[in-house]
Amino acid sequence: MSARILSGRTVANALVDELRAEVERLPVAPRLVFVRASDDPASASYVRSKARLASKAGVRNETRHLPESVRQEELIAVVEELNADDDVDGILVQLPLHAHLDPEPVLTAVLPAKDVDGLHPVNVGRLWTDRPGPVPATPAGLLRICDHYEVPLEGKEVVIVGRSALVGKPAAALFLRRHATVTVAHSRTRDLKAHLRRADLIVAAAGRPGMIGPDAVAPGAVVLDVGQAPVDGVLRGDVDPAVADVAAALTPTPGGTGPMTVAMVVANTVAAARARRGDGGGPAR
Ligand code: GUN
Repeated sequence: MSARILSGRTVANALVDELRAEVERLPVAPRLVFVRASDDPASASYVRSKARLASKAGVRNETRHLPESVRQEELIAVVEELNADDDVDGILVQLPLHAHLDPEPVLTAVLPAKDVDGLHPVNVGRLWTDRPGPVPATPAGLLRICDHYEVPLEGKEVVIVGRSALVGKPAAALFLRRHATVTVAHSRTRDLKAHLRRADLIVAAAGRPGMIGPDAVAPGAVVLDVGQAPVDGVLRGDVDPAVADVAAALTPTPGGTGPMTVAMVVANTVAAARARRGDGGGPAR
């Protein structure tokens, strides 16, 4: 058996076309500001791909690049300046921050209405209490992929590997909302394989290339691979490509969950602009 390929790139391209049409109907194009306090080339490359897609959707965007050595107070001052700028709809502080910076006060400084990452505690609370608000882009993208390919979720066993604030935890909230039975496994989980083997759907978000092999996946399972790390110059997911022989469906790396994440950031920006500028749209769900 060879798994159906769940092309995040295809779903992302369709979403960007929809967003572009939506933006064209708005009186003012939304404006997104990336804050990048890092000298890491990988971080620069991620922000560039988000900026490219934002531009493709007609979303105005710019990047504030601060040196990695920036002081916490200076970084927060930049966020506060963007909060106060009424022409800024979305603020995205690219993570991870350098070790001397504490992300928590920085993310909490972003106005919840401009928080296109959905990482402000108010927005995290909204997510877990089923209120409208921005949802972190990667898990929101996973749901979009499932919906596009008509992957049934109700009553299914979903096993998420990884408990990060960016992926694992918000993914748990979203799959619960779709009436799945959710297990969140992590580095201290005993017998991960036993959990994975009974999953109808696996979300691999551990950041350990190739950690999930075909022997850990039940025949017919759906596998969404969020892990992305360069191995010998090649981008590898958490899922061993041989899983394609067992799974019913699998996201590829690259071209899977990555492009969807980028598109959902843009969707969150358009939703934030509509909500802030008062022309009827609610934040993305
Ligand atoms: N770094 C990796 N993924 C993300 C993301 O979705 N948002 C932010 N802000 N930083 C990231």
